Amino acid sequence: MLSIQNLEIVYEDVILVSKGVSIEVPDGRIVALLGGNGAGKTSTLRAVTGLLGIHRGRISGGRVELDGTDITTHSPEAVVGAGVSQVMEGRRIFVDFTVEENLRVGAHTQPRGSIPDSLDRVYTMFPILAERRRTGAGYLSGGEQQMLAIGRALMAQPRYLLLDEPSLGLAPRIVSQIRDLIVQINESGTGVLLVEQNAAMALSIAHHGYVMENGRIVMDAPAETLRNDSDIREFYLGLSKEGAGVSYRDIKHYKRRKRWLS
Ligand SMILES: Nc1ncnc2c1ncn2[C@@H]1O[C@H](COP(=O)(O)OP(=O)(O)OP(=O)(O)O)[C@@H](O)[C@H]1O
Ligand SMILES: [Mg+2]
Repeated sequence: MLSIQNLEIVYEDVILVSKGVSIEVPDGRIVALLGGNGAGKTSTLRAVTGLLGIHRGRISGGRVELDGTDITTHSPEAVVGAGVSQVMEGRRIFVDFTVEENLRVGAHTQPRGSIPDSLDRVYTMFPILAERRRTGAGYLSGGEQQMLAIGRALMAQPRYLLLDEPSLGLAPRIVSQIRDLIVQINESGTGVLLVEQNAAMALSIAHHGYVMENGRIVMDAPAETLRNDSDIREFYLGLSKEGAGVSYRDIKHYKRRKRWLS
């Protein structure tokens, strides 16, 4: 179990962006973390993987545990070594490296002898990467780059994979490919924390979901419940008529007022 407990995050010592966030990712499950722009999703992932420091942020309260072991102050390498890998927002592959060089970078915490097997596994899962193994990563399409970013994270053989908006900017057909790949990765035993603004995609495969707003978890429920929640459907599944751009909490408030007025 990967467990985030009452996490508080500050940037530049003054900007409090996470105000007591708790999230659990049980072994082998897919957990969706939903929320609009600026909710604090990416910051939460950075906190888990030790990457807040390079963004002038830090954890100011709470802790992160992996199977009961405190990993809150682990370095990024130590977090990967402990079995937690992250695919960053915006893909962040090395465009001047070939596909295979990118994948090898992902295995830097692994014993050298294990790299051929890991490459085989990734190439089996992503045949397109095998075809392009000698191609400069900068020449890949957006969808291929996302696959490379995921493949690179898998090279560390993680028990938990954290994905930050893997569907961002991709065509629907590619999004559904990425979705199927996430299911396949999960079925091979990897726990997934899936950060998405595409709630329809995320909830279609998640076991459990959290909704985050303004640095707080405002909903925490089985994915099935979230799929059937009328407010979630309106605001995160794009079925809203009245409230584009309105937050989940605003619509709750608005509806209460509307009921009260009528
Ligand atoms: N390095 C930083 N310094 C200061 N503030 C930051 C920094 N990084 C993020 N923030 C702020 O923290 C808040 C949460 O940002 P974060 O990127 O975690 O949100 P998000 O939910 O991932 O949003 P999005 O969906 O747009 O990616 C925002 O208000 C953002 O402006
Ligand atoms: Mg983000």
